[in-house]
Amino acid sequence: MVSRRNTIKKRALRMAIFASGTGTNFKNIVDASLALKINAQVMVLVCNKKYAKALNLAKHHNIPTIIIDYDNINKEELEHNLLKELAKYHLDLICLAGFMRKLSPLFVKTYHNKIINVHPSLLPKYRGLKAMERAYEAKEEKMGATVHFVDDGLDTGSIIIQEAFKVGNRTLEEAIAKTHEIEYRIYLEAINIIEGEN
Ligand code: GAR
Repeated sequence: MVSRRNTIKKRALRMAIFASGTGTNFKNIVDASLALKINAQVMVLVCNKKYAKALNLAKHHNIPTIIIDYDNINKEELEHNLLKELAKYHLDLICLAGFMRKLSPLFVKTYHNKIINVHPSLLPKYRGLKAMERAYEAKEEKMGATVHFVDDGLDTGSIIIQEAFKVGNRTLEEAIAKTHEIEYRIYLEAINIIEGEN
């Protein structure tokens, strides 16, 4: 007899992705969701750049988008409106995927422990921009990527997963490629960990 427990499928996590640029992490998450590698559904893409590549991909997959323009409105009002919009999606998780803006304390508090970020360094080292370039130039023996919960700081918050690799005699380009390969994989692992705890 098949137990009832095995026949009930857990509801997929409802996620928003926040991206600013190329969107390769966004693509990786959308692909994993479609391939059922994660029990999570991308409900909406939030983007702060009108021409970000991620927007084309969202359009292609019929994923709703919200474009926010930090330049023409004060941050408080913008995030107040954004919170109102996002409430409609009943989100379980917000994934920052190359989102290059710091969210306000109010926003972070509203989604307490529900916002995660991927960063291309072994945090707490090399927070902020150009993390891979700075680690490489400093001749770090190891580089890597981190997925962490988001708090009020810049690339701070408790770490969910971190993975390192030995730089060895890789060129900067090779070290960057290796870092991206790690971040795509550990981001999905982090989503799966959170999904398992829900
Ligand atoms: C990724 O490498 C991500 O780790 C980094 O931005 C890149 C976005 O690439 N995020 C940060 O530096 C956050 N502080 P993508 O747009 O191709 O996903």
